[in-house]
Formats: sequence, C-alpha cells, structure tokens
Amino acid sequence: MDKILVVDDEKGVCHSFKKILGRLGYDVITANNGIEAIEQAGKDIPSLVVMDVSMPKMDGLETLQRLKSLYPDLIVIMMTAHSTCDRAITAMKYGAYDYLTKPFDNAQLISLIEKALMDKRISTPVTFDETGDEKGDRIIGRSPAMLEIFKKIGQVAESDVTVLLRGETGTGKELIARAIYHHSKRVNKPFLPVNCAAIPENLLESELFGHEKGAFTGADNKKIGKFEQCSTGTMFLDEIGDMPISIQAKWLRVLQDGCFQRLGGKETIKTDVRIIAATNKNLEELRDEKRFRDDLYWRLNVVSIYIPPLRERPDDVDVLVQYFIKKFSRDFEKDVNGASSDLLKEFKKYDWPGNVRELQSIVQRGMLLCQKDFLSPEDCEWPPEKGTEDSKSRDIGKLLSDAVDELLKKGGANIYKEAVSAFERLLVKHAMELHKNNQVLTAKFLGISRNTLREKIDNKPNNQSD
Ligand SMILES: Nc1ncnc2c1ncn2[C@@H]1O[C@H](COP(=O)(O)OP(=O)(O)OP(=O)(O)O)[C@@H](O)[C@H]1O
Ligand SMILES: [Mg+2]
Repeated sequence: MDKILVVDDEKGVCHSFKKILGRLGYDVITANNGIEAIEQAGKDIPSLVVMDVSMPKMDGLETLQRLKSLYPDLIVIMMTAHSTCDRAITAMKYGAYDYLTKPFDNAQLISLIEKALMDKRISTPVTFDETGDEKGDRIIGRSPAMLEIFKKIGQVAESDVTVLLRGETGTGKELIARAIYHHSKRVNKPFLPVNCAAIPENLLESELFGHEKGAFTGADNKKIGKFEQCSTGTMFLDEIGDMPISIQAKWLRVLQDGCFQRLGGKETIKTDVRIIAATNKNLEELRDEKRFRDDLYWRLNVVSIYIPPLRERPDDVDVLVQYFIKKFSRDFEKDVNGASSDLLKEFKKYDWPGNVRELQSIVQRGMLLCQKDFLSPEDCEWPPEKGTEDSKSRDIGKLLSDAVDELLKKGGANIYKEAVSAFERLLVKHAMELHKNNQVLTAKFLGISRNTLREKIDNKPNNQSD
C-alpha cells in the first residue's frame, strides 16, 4: 500500500484528503507544517507527498527543498493558491513532480497521484538483490526529458490510443513500447512485435493481413495475418518507415476503423488491436519523398513520443551505468559496485551514436574484463578507437585511397560502376561473415534496411542512376 504524506496548515484540508485518499486504499499521514513534515518523512519515507506552498514557519518551497535534499527520489506534488509562474517554476526547479493551482477538484489530484506513482514504478531502477522483474526491464532515466516521457507513458498507457515512438537507434523505443503495454488494460492479452524492415516486401502484406487460399501463386491455404492473430492484444509495429507505400493505405484503414480484407479476399474483417508504432527514420523526409503517405503521417502523429539521443541527456549516463553494472554483476556473478569518476566523465563527453544499446554493450564488455570492485576506462577499452563521424569518414577515406589509386591506374570505360559495385559486394560479404550470416544483425550493423540488404545480397544491379 502506498503511503501518502499530506502537508497543509489547514487541518480541515488534511482531514478531507485523508478521508478521500484513504477510501482509495492509500495509507495517509498528515503534517501541519514543514518541520512536522520532515519529522514524519524521517520516521517512514512516504511514496508521495502532497504539500501546500503557503505555510507559516517553514513554507512549502523551503520544505520541498529540504525533503528533496534528504530523499532525492521522493515525489512531491505542490498545491498553490496563486498561480504565480515564479512559484511554479521554483517548485519544479526544486524537484517537485508537479503542482496544482487551487481550487482544484479531487479527481484532478487523484489522477495526478496515480500518474506520479505509476511513473515512479516505471522509472525506479532495480536494486541489487532484485532477481528480475516480470514486467520486463526497467526504463532508467532521470533527465527532464525522460521524466516527461515517464509522465507521457502514464498518460497514454491505459487508453487504446495509437502511439508513435520516435528516436535514434538504441534509444529505447521497444522498451518503452513494452512499458506502455505492461501498464495498459491489455496486459493480459498478447503483445506481438512485427518488424516491417525484417519481412521482405512481397511477404509483408500477407504477414500483416493474411491471405485467402489461391490469392497468389503458392498460397495453397488460407492464412490468418498478424492483425487478426493479435485481436484484443497490442501490436508493436517496428520500423514503420520501411513499410512499403503499397501497404500503407490498408494499414491506415486498420488505424481508422479496425477493418481490412485478407489478400485475395472480399470479406471485411474487423479487428481490435492496439498499435504502438516506432521508427528511427525521418518520417517528414519520407513523406516529402512520397514514400510515406501524408494521411497516415497525420493519423500517426497524434500521440507521438520522441526519445532524445543519449548525448542530449548526459544526466542519464550515470544512472544507466549504475543500472547496467548491477545487472551484469548479477549476470556474471561479480562484485562490482560502481564506475570510476574518470570513466563517467569520459562517457558524458562521448556522442553515443548507438545510444543506450551502445552504452550497455560497452559496460557489458567492461564487466567481463573487470577485476576490481569498480569499473574503469581500461576495462572498457576506453576511449574507443572509432572517434567521431567526421574522423570515421576521414579514416575510411584513408583506408580506401590506395585501392582508388590502383583502380585509377587500371582505368576502363565502366570503372565507376565496377568499382562501386565491387566495393559494395565485398562490404556486404564481409559484414555477413562477421555476423554469421544473420541478415537482421548485418542490416543493423550496416545501417540499411533488411530489404536493401537482401537486394545487395541478390546482387541486383546498383539502383543508382548514371
Ligand atoms: N532508458 C533505458 N533504460 C534501460 N535500458 C535501456 C534504456 N534505453 C534503452 N535501453 C536498452 O538498450 C537496448 C536498446 O533498446 P531498444 O531495443 O528499446 O532500442 P530501439 O530504440 O528500439 O532501437 P532500434 O531503433 O535500433 O530498434 C535494449 O537492451 C534496452 O533494454
Ligand atoms: Mg527497436
């Protein structure tokens, strides 16, 4: 049961909140001034505090500041009689979760409390002795951007609204999709991830919508598509930027009224699927290039959550490192408690092109090598040799320049086409070998879609026009 501390100098307010929140099953304690509040919190830390700003002796803002310095993770909702921007900003700056301007109705307060507690549950990092979480991995973050995302997850999870997740590779889109699902009403129904880039274009339509017997050569039996399989559940449509334009109209209809037809079928089928979509592509650019339908773009953009790249939220680096150290300590049965300050400093300066996924694998590798009780740059082979994008392309240029010189000496009418396609073939061949012929991993490694990779493997002629 969550404990809530209500702090107000008006005893009547404390009393009525105690009654209302008590009825909802919260364990409510009260305090009539800041000093009492700090004492109460010291006895048993509450899950959440609701506090008035104007109080005699120690006002709410000062109490907030003190409480947050003692218990940084404490959720505090402030109540203010005057909606002055200054007070609100100060309250948020001092770490308040949110504030309500009086008069407000009880429903507003209750929904804010529920949302705050849900955010806390989503964001609290696992502790050392926790053996895992059946609700999936936690989303770690304490940057303002991530806190906003936690709030948004809380706001959208329960409804059936379609959510679009956007952000660079490795920022946690799938993790967030799963968190939305775990906090939705459909949690006991299936969660079905479908990666549009991993399914060849000619198969995607029948995978998603199914087909009737004889719909095309080789369709020997009727097939139930993912949208039908997933009825009453949640579908995670990943990499929607790779969805062929030919299928987009059909998908739009599913989003609008849940209806579609199987490939080669006449019957209209109605499905009840909640869709969470994700992309790391620039949809605006795809839309301008007419590779993504305008109407679909607008339909999807209603509720979108943008996850900023890790380099724009250095505040999250420390907590993520700590979290991964705990996780891999457990996995590798090691006794590593933290990271050296120089490693953390270096990490914060780095630009993390692979975002949290990259940070995770650096820490994982470091943890395997680590022989001390803290992680240091030597364990992580840090700084990495890769360097920045700029220096990477300079390095590639240097690597290739000898080969280019040789080719130029050789000459020939088709030198450009021959050289480019030979290079591409070699690059794909070696990358496939490196990833043991796994196309999904190779495509990710090369930064191309799986369809493009397949084209390259099939050695289709270069798409480039002369
Ligand atoms: N905030 C976070 N807290 C904890 N782990 C995270 C966080 N963000 C990402 N991760 C971890 O990083 C890895 C990559 O995350 P995820 O697969 O969700 O990224 P993505 O945005 O879907 O990437 P892509 O676009 O490449 O598919 C996962 O192992 C995930 O658990
Ligand atoms: Mg993903």
